[in-house]
Amino acid sequence: MAISRIENVSRLVVGNWKMNPKTEKEAITLFKALVKTVPEKSKLVRVLLVPAVYYASLRAVKQKVISLGVQNIHHELDGAHTGDIALSMFNKQPLYVMCGHSERRALGETDQDVNKKVLLTLKAKSKVILCVGEKERDHGILFFGVIRDQLEKALNQIPRKDISSIVIAYEPVWAIGKHAPRPATAEEVREVVIFIKKVLVDLFGPSVLPEVKILYGASVDSKDAQDLVQEGGVDGLLLGRASLDPKEYARTCAAITY
Ligand code: PGA
Repeated sequence: MAISRIENVSRLVVGNWKMNPKTEKEAITLFKALVKTVPEKSKLVRVLLVPAVYYASLRAVKQKVISLGVQNIHHELDGAHTGDIALSMFNKQPLYVMCGHSERRALGETDQDVNKKVLLTLKAKSKVILCVGEKERDHGILFFGVIRDQLEKALNQIPRKDISSIVIAYEPVWAIGKHAPRPATAEEVREVVIFIKKVLVDLFGPSVLPEVKILYGASVDSKDAQDLVQEGGVDGLLLGRASLDPKEYARTCAAITY
C-alpha cells in the first residue's frame, strides 16, 4: 500500500469509481488492471476511491502504486443511521476519504455535514478529498460566491496544521457525467483555481498555498487532461469514468506526467 505525502509531490490523480463495477470479482480484476498500467518509477501519486464494500478485498491486493480511499463516510461516529458507514468500521483505515461530492450533496448532504466529515477524517489521520463546485456557471460572478461558501463552511474549525492533509477538487456540477455537454475549459478552471487559492489565503494565510493540492474533475479524459493541468493550473485530476477503463486511465495519467 503506497503512503503518499501529498504536500511533497507535484501531481496527483484520483479515480472515483462511484457505484462501479457491479461485482467484487470485477472490482479486483479492474484494480489489478489499473495497477498494471503504472510505469516503473512513476512520480504521479495515484489514489482510487472505491465502493466501501470492496475496500477490504482491494486492500488485500499486493501492490505499492495506488493508494486506496472511500467515497463517503457518515458524519457521525455511530448511532441510528440505517445503511450508513462510519469511518471506524473499516478494518484498515482508508487513507483517503472523499467529502462533499456533488452526487452526495444532491442526496441532501449539507455543508455542515461535509464539515463534520472533514473533521472526523482529519482526526482519524486520513486525508480528505474535498469536492466543491457550482451547479451552474452564470455569466457574472455569482458562482464564485457558491464556491467560497462551500469552502468556508467545509473548512470551518479545521486546524491550520491539518491543512496539508486536504486536497481540494474543483468539480463544476454542470460538467460532470456522460450527459454533460462539455468539460470546463482550461481558462474556466484557471480562474476558479486562483479564486480557491484566494479563499484559502483569506482563511489560513498565504503560507498555506504550497501545502494544498487543487485538482480538477468533471468529464476529464486523455484528450484534454494535459491542457487542463498545464493551462488550468491544477495539481492533478479527479477522474470518474476514465478510472474505469485501464487504457484510458493510462493515457490520461501519461498525458499529465511530464
Ligand atoms: P466523470 O466524473 O469524470 O465521469 O464526469 C467525475 C466525478 O464526478 O468525480
